[in-house]
Amino acid sequence: MSLKLNRTSFGDPKNTGNVLNREEAFKLLNDWVKNERLQLHMKQVGHLMKCWAQEKEGLQEADQWRWEMAGLLHDADWDQWPDQHCSKIIEELEARNIDPEIIRAIASHGPNHFGVEPETRMDKMLYAFDELSGLIHAYSLMRPEGYAGMELKGVKKRLKEKSFAANVNREEIMDALNRAGVDLETLVPFMIERQSSVK
Ligand SMILES: [Fe+2]
Ligand SMILES: [Fe+2]
Repeated sequence: MSLKLNRTSFGDPKNTGNVLNREEAFKLLNDWVKNERLQLHMKQVGHLMKCWAQEKEGLQEADQWRWEMAGLLHDADWDQWPDQHCSKIIEELEARNIDPEIIRAIASHGPNHFGVEPETRMDKMLYAFDELSGLIHAYSLMRPEGYAGMELKGVKKRLKEKSFAANVNREEIMDALNRAGVDLETLVPFMIERQSSVK
């Protein structure tokens, strides 16, 4: 099974700035994703994208939502159509005339799987948050106190422990961080604090 998208252009530049509103985006998420754990993952990544856009990129509200929307919907087709991940959600957003930058970010969230290189800041941060967010959440589930008191060094330990959340690809995480130009020291504390509030 290959998930390669075999394309490099997404959406139509004339749709730049077109977004779903919050209600529409959450409706799509709820309609397509029945798995609650996956829904939570998507909401967490969406929230991280929003916080990063606001706090680190200094973007205004409309752009913060574009970042959040990319995070929120990046795995929308994984639950019901894993063999069409992520071409199905891309086609859906193209049909709805959504901003090409959002579609492109979703298309490049796994360059080793989809064959699309992350280029923009939005692309790179989505790739950087995706797997690491999953590992941090898995860690919170094995800690009796959940996210409370979680520290960078504990996350680093779990990263080294290959048997922990074995499906999380460590090389991919480091590749994503390199491309985004951020390190674990910066990213992990930011992520622990922001994603712990997402329910
Ligand atoms: Fe994915
Ligand atoms: Fe994901």
